[in-house]
Amino acid sequence: MHRVHIRTYGCQMNERDSEGVAALLRAKGYVVQDDEAGADIVLVNTCSIRGLAEEKAIGKADHLLRARREGRGPRLVGILGCMAQNRGAELLDRLPDLDLVVGTQRLRHIPDHLGRLLADPAPARRIDLAEEAGFEDALPGRADGRQVAAFVSIQQGCDMRCAYCVVPRTRGPERSRPPESILAEIRALAAAGTREVTLLGQIVNQYGRGSQRAEGGLSPFVRLLRQVAAIPGIDRIRYTACHPIGYRADLVAAHADIPELCAHVHLPFQSGSDRILRAMRRPYLAERIRRLAASLRAARPGLTLSTDVIVGFPGETDADFAQTESLFRELGFEHGFLFKYSPRPGTPGHALGDPVPAPDKERRLARLQELLALRSSTENLRQIGTTQSVLVEGPDRRGGRLMGRTENERRVILDGPSSLIGHIIPVHVTAAGQTYLEGKPA
Ligand code: 5AD
Ligand code: SF4
Repeated sequence: MHRVHIRTYGCQMNERDSEGVAALLRAKGYVVQDDEAGADIVLVNTCSIRGLAEEKAIGKADHLLRARREGRGPRLVGILGCMAQNRGAELLDRLPDLDLVVGTQRLRHIPDHLGRLLADPAPARRIDLAEEAGFEDALPGRADGRQVAAFVSIQQGCDMRCAYCVVPRTRGPERSRPPESILAEIRALAAAGTREVTLLGQIVNQYGRGSQRAEGGLSPFVRLLRQVAAIPGIDRIRYTACHPIGYRADLVAAHADIPELCAHVHLPFQSGSDRILRAMRRPYLAERIRRLAASLRAARPGLTLSTDVIVGFPGETDADFAQTESLFRELGFEHGFLFKYSPRPGTPGHALGDPVPAPDKERRLARLQELLALRSSTENLRQIGTTQSVLVEGPDRRGGRLMGRTENERRVILDGPSSLIGHIIPVHVTAAGQTYLEGKPA
């Protein structure tokens, strides 16, 4: 019996992929464990979005391989996902004794590859980066079937070519999964106790573009949202990521019409300077973000927003950054992923180099982080004394207590019996930190 540990870096899509690989391996008799200690196979599922993410994963694999050379490490070490796709054979130059490199579109072949490697210690082929035609239909969900809140992949790849972004290289062209297959997966999840789904893709609001038609004024994505909302047992729907482009009136209206859609939207705006947006090849103006935020909030009172911002894109001046800062402040984002620009080989913007001095990037990042910390703690403190509807997802990581989320995606730590897991309950908020609320069942 082989024991496998999967270490996951990066986004929710990677987490979903790792769950799928784990389920496939369990079905083949492998034991998949959360801890690295004692695993005889370690798979590192990687992210390429920034240089630092790649270096972390390479460092991890290097450490494991070194331990193996000293007779302590796992028997097999593999690198999966985005960095495998992006760097391919070059990874073997950095890590010559790496056993396996599997790209983003070949994950379901991992059990075969492992079987082969376990039978043949000196295999002819260690790299599998082939492209699959169409949507690589879903990897299975978690084998135990007990996911109160689950990720469901509805779209893969991206055709946008934003200047900074490596995703079109790592995940390939935009493909949408057929609705029947998505709905069947969600029905099965609901039957096993799932109450909330997050629909995943690179630009989910463009779901179905090219393969499905708008009907009755509804885009394929909004149609899908309605179908998901109609599945008995699914009480909450979220989606990510979306793009301000193609975020049409029907999707804004869906936030008023579909009660299952949670009152939270992740709306990446990247920069508040029109000049920098153009250089980033983001085809919208800052004004579009202002209007979109206002219409979403009008459609769904109480809706909160989060975003992604990059500081220090080539050419960004203090004046450009000031526009980013003021948009960020004005729209009151409660959560945000804030990044320093990291030049990625092979992206359209790579030729621009990385001219913004590191201390300028640092200062701009720190400024946004400060604003964000202030904003989220203020908003969290304002929740004290209110009663929130919370979906209890499971035990809190630190043990002993339960963890759930409000509709606005605020994390809530609460006391109560484990029988509350899987239920949406009113919670009276008693305390708040910068990233969480505390409460008790009301
Ligand atoms: N450097 C910094 N941040 C990046 N992102 C994507 N590519 C880069 C890069 N090269 C950020 C964007 C995107 C998020 C997922 O990662 O903000 O929305
Ligand atoms: Fe990357 Fe732009 Fe596609 Fe998002 S829309 S995945 S940022 S290329």
